[in-house]
Amino acid sequence: MKQETKLIRSQVPSSNHLEHSTAIYMTSSYTFDDADHMAALFNEEQEGYIYSRYSNPNVDEFIEKVADLEGMESGWATSSGMAAIFTTFGAMLESGDEIISVRSIFGSTHQLFTQIFPKWGINTKYVPFDKLEDWQDAVSAKSKILYLETPTNPGVDIIDLEKANEFAKKNGLYFVVDNCFATPINQRPRDFGADIVIHSATKYFDGQGRVMGGVILSSVTIIDKIRAFARHTGPSLSPFNAWILSKSLETLIIRMERHNQNALELAQRIEKNPQVFNVKYPFLPSHPNYEIARKQMRGGGGIISFEVKGGLLKGKQFLNKLKLLSLTANLGDTRSIATHPASTTHSKLTPKEREVVGISDGLIRISVGLEHVDDIWQDLSNALE
Ligand SMILES: Cc1ncc(COP(=O)(O)O)c(C=O)c1O
Repeated sequence: MKQETKLIRSQVPSSNHLEHSTAIYMTSSYTFDDADHMAALFNEEQEGYIYSRYSNPNVDEFIEKVADLEGMESGWATSSGMAAIFTTFGAMLESGDEIISVRSIFGSTHQLFTQIFPKWGINTKYVPFDKLEDWQDAVSAKSKILYLETPTNPGVDIIDLEKANEFAKKNGLYFVVDNCFATPINQRPRDFGADIVIHSATKYFDGQGRVMGGVILSSVTIIDKIRAFARHTGPSLSPFNAWILSKSLETLIIRMERHNQNALELAQRIEKNPQVFNVKYPFLPSHPNYEIARKQMRGGGGIISFEVKGGLLKGKQFLNKLKLLSLTANLGDTRSIATHPASTTHSKLTPKEREVVGISDGLIRISVGLEHVDDIWQDLSNALE
């Protein structure tokens, strides 16, 4: 079957009621036929459900759909994207190991790397995202993981997945990619050699701003390791959220097609506006990494960044003038969203520190939703005016 059909039609076997839509299995535990059955499941000699911290039919349905989309053998779902990221490192690393990453990563991931992991002797070395020739200097005998996001947040820069993978393989590192900005509809890191792909399902997988969730996709061997860690640390996805997410995946392909279409059209219109500069969208030919984006992405995604002239003050004024776009911390929603990192998510950094991570005072990030493109444009152009 084609991907569109599988996303809609693949579901866990029905219970006895012949329901059309998968039922929600809101149960914390499961019963056993007898003591032998119970022992076989606990000893992992037989497959079956024991306890929803370990597994649940709704969670399995969600994992199977995403693993198939990402071209991965197996997966593990978590309560949020951060739980997926923490679980991956927790399962894969030992005290003393090192991570190699770039500074343009999601804020909480940066906090994990700099504030939390060092407590356990796990340190991170940041390399410049666009100078692969310098990455080798960061490698030591302790390096274990190369961790990247592309497109990056909030700067919408692009990292060459093929070259990053060559670097990881040459140095014996696991290559881990947070793919939540692109989604597997626009980019499959596995096709370029990634060993582990992570998602915040809170973003495009839900796509309607309702539930939190996360998922880790990889080989059976790696997911066995992750399962062994997660079963006992407990970052499980709730069956209700898994049910919502599986339902949302049924429309992911058509939603992403429209996100791509709206965002490209808006990026082209924004680029022509005299109040802005440095418009970044992967599929705009003016993007500094346009060729790489075309090589590794099937669509440009829904995120655009640009700078308004006039820095912090004008950036804030721009947000205050928006009427349709939501001012909210999420992205990947049907509703278009605007954020101004310098006055919100990155306000605690000094202007100098913001410069290092590529966040100018006038930088605006737009998550383009599924409203009519003319209405989104009207709001943006009014606010720019
Ligand atoms: C790129 C990226 N990764 C991970 C996360 C964390 O996901 P969650 O908020 O579901 O924990 C986010 C959240 O905004 C994100 O943008």
